[in-house]
Amino acid sequence: MSIISKDIQKAISILENEELVAIPTETVYGLAGNIFSEKAIKSIFETKQRPLFNPLIVHVSGIDQLDKIVAEIPAKAKLLAEKFWPGSMTLVLKKNPNIPDLITAGKSTVAVRIPNHKTTLELLSKLPFPLAAPSANPFNNISPTKPEHVARYFKENLKMVLDGGTCKNGIESTIIGFNNNEPVIYRLGALALEEIENVVGPVSVMNEKEKNPDAPGMLQKHYAPKTKTILTTNVKGEIEKYKTSKIGVLSFSTSFKDNTIDAEIRLSRSNNLQEAASNLYDSMHQLDHLNLDVIIVEKLPEFGLGKSMNDRLKRAAF
Ligand code: TXA
Ligand code: MG
Repeated sequence: MSIISKDIQKAISILENEELVAIPTETVYGLAGNIFSEKAIKSIFETKQRPLFNPLIVHVSGIDQLDKIVAEIPAKAKLLAEKFWPGSMTLVLKKNPNIPDLITAGKSTVAVRIPNHKTTLELLSKLPFPLAAPSANPFNNISPTKPEHVARYFKENLKMVLDGGTCKNGIESTIIGFNNNEPVIYRLGALALEEIENVVGPVSVMNEKEKNPDAPGMLQKHYAPKTKTILTTNVKGEIEKYKTSKIGVLSFSTSFKDNTIDAEIRLSRSNNLQEAASNLYDSMHQLDHLNLDVIIVEKLPEFGLGKSMNDRLKRAAF
């Protein structure tokens, strides 16, 4: 029998029993457990094969829950929360002392977000505890944007995937931390940098050197298909180079119609970055299952969600 189900009541009883449920969000599916259950949290790390030094995001149903999770809210964090929650933004703030160290990997800060997905908001509002949820993929693999991706990854090691359909944003949340009360982007994501800057003015993006291996989304190789992946602005040149191999092409909107290509996926025929983001991971999952020798990916325009997608693709191709 499939582990994919729409039964919220069943999800509640599994979670109350300190076990895990994969939950839909508007970004990617998460592998969720009760933040106050040591058993559940340990099982998140084991199931994902994720190192214990990588902290988890806490998911809550409303801004009224925030006081129980964090100790302080800088003015700009409050502005951002009011503007973008529920939504694809995670804030890293000073933690409330009752948040277990396992969640934060012993850090003094905690990551928190209110996801914008009807099913999961209903689930969260019916549970007496918040949910910790990293993306529901084995460590370093491509994040899941459909219930089938999660079921394929974990099979009998997971009791249930709560079916909320295809994730509409399709890439992970944008993570924002604070340095002397000023926002700093830790991870680019589904909320475009420009939208954030419209609310709080210019913000800095943590560069590769400052990036700390304890933030896995920041690792240089991450979000990676099993198949060799190349990110390029010169798709034609790479096709020529690999013409004797089995080639897959993932392009923004152009068709590279070429009989040396074995598979081609276009992310958005109408050049729409939002549509491209929502199709990105599913397209990578599809190409990765075709036994190709190489996946040639066209670099996206370096603004808005294109910038966030290029960040992921650089790590996939590293
Ligand atoms: O869209 C998303 O954010 C999804 C959905 C399920 O909400 N979740 C997600 O979680 O992408 P995960 O665990 O795959 O990525 C969370 C990132 C990691 O890179 C982690 O290191 C970072 O958040 N993080 C968590 N707590 C942190 C903290 N206290 N300080 C710095 N980084 C933190
Ligand atoms: Mg992840």
